[in-house]
Amino acid sequence: MIATGEKLLEVTDLVKHFPIRAGLLGRVKKHVKAVDGVSFHLRPGETLGLVGESGCGKTTVGRSILRLIEPTSGSVRFRGVELTELPPKELRRLRRDMQIIFQDPYSSLNPRMTVEGIVGEALAVHGIARGAEKRRRVGELLERCGLPARVMGRYPHEFSGGQRQRVGIARALALEPEFIVCDEAVSALDVSIQAQVINLLMDIQQDMGLSYLFIAHDLSVVEHISHRVAVMYLGRIVEIAGAAELYELPLHPYTRALLSAVPVPDPEHRHERIILEGDVPTPIDPPSGCPFHPRCWLAEARCSREVPALRDLGGDHAVACHLVDAASRTLRKDGKVLPPRAGKNGRDALPTVEAESSLSLEGAADAPRPAAARAIDAALGVLDVDEEDPADAALAAADAALAAADAALAETSTDQAEALAQTLPPPSPEVDGDAPTVPPPGTSSIDAALAAADEAADAALAAADAALGSAEDAAPPPAAQDDPEAARESESADPSDPGGSDAPPARPS
Ligand SMILES: Nc1ncnc2c1ncn2[C@@H]1O[C@H](COP(=O)(O)OP(=O)(O)OP(=O)(O)O)[C@@H](O)[C@H]1O
Ligand code: SF4
Ligand SMILES: [Mg+2]
Repeated sequence: MIATGEKLLEVTDLVKHFPIRAGLLGRVKKHVKAVDGVSFHLRPGETLGLVGESGCGKTTVGRSILRLIEPTSGSVRFRGVELTELPPKELRRLRRDMQIIFQDPYSSLNPRMTVEGIVGEALAVHGIARGAEKRRRVGELLERCGLPARVMGRYPHEFSGGQRQRVGIARALALEPEFIVCDEAVSALDVSIQAQVINLLMDIQQDMGLSYLFIAHDLSVVEHISHRVAVMYLGRIVEIAGAAELYELPLHPYTRALLSAVPVPDPEHRHERIILEGDVPTPIDPPSGCPFHPRCWLAEARCSREVPALRDLGGDHAVACHLVDAASRTLRKDGKVLPPRAGKNGRDALPTVEAESSLSLEGAADAPRPAAARAIDAALGVLDVDEEDPADAALAAADAALAAADAALAETSTDQAEALAQTLPPPSPEVDGDAPTVPPPGTSSIDAALAAADEAADAALAAADAALGSAEDAAPPPAAQDDPEAARESESADPSDPGGSDAPPARPS
């Protein structure tokens, strides 16, 4: 038995590179660097949340630990035993204590087996129980997971997603393991069912003293269940800390970006939404230096040259960023401390974030816009807006309404959303269609501002459409009349190309 505080699992410098073969001889040309030097430990009875965007290597970490895939290098010690060097027979024996729960309970449960067969399979294979004893134990396991024992004769398709995941948990518990990898175990479930399954996992942990590696791509999902949380980016852990500390004092810019997307259920609590540009780079050719530098708004020259080490700050907190000051446990840029969540008071400290985010809207015209809205701006920009022209006025109204909708959608303050909604130009009397509606002065709910702005955007776009249609009917472009080639080109032009079409673009979703 392991004493509390001792490590049940210790992963050191774990690497998994998948070879990419090409050519007739199937020579290895490159490698997918799915996991590139991951280290962490897990104590008995502890849950470590592992989060990060899709493709950052979470599943590969989980499977490499269990040796469901062979790690390229590194060490995995379970109860002090080095797993990477264990012969197959001993590994099989130890696997009884290490289980995995998968994301999709439907595809991970054999559809041709009854629940009794699925949950009891491991008991039979390991010679633990057969016949009536096996049935008794399966019944107990099902009841432990919130399902009546009588359902053991049913097949997986007869259950809902949440119930199937309970069957998956019962199967994982059959051999009374000490450690379970929960790989997106609740990600496919509705939010209310997610909460039930998370609570079930926590109850079981309390009863049985289990340890979990709880993988998810959403920080809000792991918050409730995790004692500590590790944040992964492109095959590496960039920050790891006790859950309370990570949510209160995130230091790595990537963690801050992920956390800024987590809704805060407090209308008084306003914080900056950090919108990361671009996708995660390919793990085949990861960026030099800090892998996050192409998307980091705080990056400096050295960030593209030097790989930041995962530095231990003490108190179970480690972070890999050049800008983190270990002594004061702060993130600093140009000597200035950047607060963990930039709210109204902290906004000045994050000027570059502000420029990239869709907040800080002084007015529709100057509003920094998300990428989709910027594309619309560009398309609208090719029209020389003429206040007298009903079609152009409607387009300008549509643009302003979209900005107001953006502001509301980006959870800006009520005041800002209302101020923006007030900037909508009055509907043109020449234009058919519903008039854009403006939130009445004094509307204090952000939802009302959002709904009104949304409605205004729809109405203004419809009006713009109608006005443009009638303008085109009245006066077809000379190029289209005189030159059939030009007419064809204009018909087939890419609407996302600002120079290619005069038609109002689709609204950003
Ligand atoms: N068998 C494989 N062969 C080649 N590449 C692979 C293999 N398995 C995973 N990868 C690649 O390794 C990287 C990490 O994949 P992994 O499934 O571990 O990510 P993840 O963080 O679990 O993503 P998700 O959140 O989508 O489940 C990805 O780029 C993936 O394409
Ligand atoms: S090391 Fe540089 S690029 Fe990487 S997270 Fe820190 S500031 Fe950003
Ligand atoms: Mg995965």
